[in-house]
Amino acid sequence: MYDFDNKRVYITGGSSGIGLETARQLALMGAHLILFSRDKVKLEYARKAVVQHRKHDLQKIQCIQLDVRDNAWVEQVMQQAVKNFGAPDVLITNAGVGCADYFENISFETFDAIMATNVYGTRNVIAALFSSMKQKGGRIVIIASIAGHMGMFGYTAYGTSKFALVGFSECLRSELKRYGIRVSVVCPPETDTPLIYEEGKTIPPEARAVKNLAGLLKPEYVAKRIIRGMQRNTYLIIPGFRATLLYFLQCYLPGWIIQLSADLAVKRAEKNSDRE
Ligand SMILES: NC(=O)c1ccc[n+]([C@@H]2O[C@H](COP(=O)([O-])OP(=O)(O)OC[C@H]3O[C@@H](n4cnc5c(N)ncnc54)[C@H](OP(=O)(O)O)[C@@H]3O)[C@@H](O)[C@H]2O)c1
Repeated sequence: MYDFDNKRVYITGGSSGIGLETARQLALMGAHLILFSRDKVKLEYARKAVVQHRKHDLQKIQCIQLDVRDNAWVEQVMQQAVKNFGAPDVLITNAGVGCADYFENISFETFDAIMATNVYGTRNVIAALFSSMKQKGGRIVIIASIAGHMGMFGYTAYGTSKFALVGFSECLRSELKRYGIRVSVVCPPETDTPLIYEEGKTIPPEARAVKNLAGLLKPEYVAKRIIRGMQRNTYLIIPGFRATLLYFLQCYLPGWIIQLSADLAVKRAEKNSDRE
């Protein structure tokens, strides 16, 4: 079983939600943590929250301001981080933004912004740390979504970005094995974090109905599954029974059955909103 004690873990988007909860749980297991995100205030809150969970006093907990969309910034910050703290044993690319709306309401700017954070942000961070990780091996954990396996109503932008991450992860897994770098991809269903409150401002009722099929998880549970997945060297980590079941149905049933179920949920939601 992989032991996180004294391991260096870099987490992008570590100031909130799934990233912060994963950092907390890894702190309890003795890991040194470096968290990256944009908002300094949220980062300071996260640092205080994680420090309280340290297993021993020598654990380093650092927070660094970074926008993963800005490749020059990413390169400079990661170079400095490797110099100061050493290359990561574990890199968790978790920074991400949500978006749920009708396709016709999603502007080109919004679509690009989702891709810039979720896809290119992930690529930027991994590319910046690649040469230092290549020398000693390690783990890369990419946080995608169950929306990266099934196309859902309202998720043309977000779903596209997460499908891209699932494909990216598969290619990386195959390529990086020869350097002793294990890649995992995490595909959670809806999780109770600030992201879903932001998304909730525009989510269409049909999307809400389809999303309910996969259930709602707590970030504590998702973080536990991420850590357990890493310990077991699992490539595809799907937290939650309902999301796992949906994934397997999607893989093994003829596509039209899943589409029919989703279409029925959409129809029911449309009927309900007509009635209101
Ligand atoms: N919540 C869900 O239902 C759910 C389900 C499946 C997958 N996921 C994925 O899980 C990951 C974490 O999301 P969450 O639910 O925990 O949301 P969250 O609580 O909103 O956390 C998102 C984190 O990403 C950071 N971030 C966003 N844009 C960034 C940027 N450009 N550069 C650097 N950091 C950035 C945020 O901090 P700043 O805003 O300060 O930068 C924050 O720390 C995301 O990739 C999300 O797509 C979430």
